[in-house]
Amino acid sequence: MAKITYIEHNGKSHAVEVPNELSVMEGAIQNNIPGIDADCGGSCACATCHVYVEEKWFRKLPNKENAEEDMLDMAFEPNKFSRLGCQITVSDELDGMVVKMPSKQA
Ligand code: FES
Repeated sequence: MAKITYIEHNGKSHAVEVPNELSVMEGAIQNNIPGIDADCGGSCACATCHVYVEEKWFRKLPNKENAEEDMLDMAFEPNKFSRLGCQITVSDELDGMVVKMPSKQA
């Protein structure tokens, strides 16, 4: 279980407990957090789960697979802290992680 804070582009913050093994995207969907649509259901094919991960937490994440890199290339305004929420698996080590949603996902 990890507490994940999702911050909408408008600054509204949502801190929720997400069980281990769910993805960051699934944690948002299960808690009805706006800004993460997950149109493809988590198959790394839509980028509507794009988040900017706070630097301290970004460094703790496993490297991206090629499919995630490719999808982020097509995402709206990616930056060096961009990840797809569906590709981040929640674990105890991520307790306290903060992610922000891009302006397009409002
Ligand atoms: S839910 Fe579609 S890429 Fe993550």
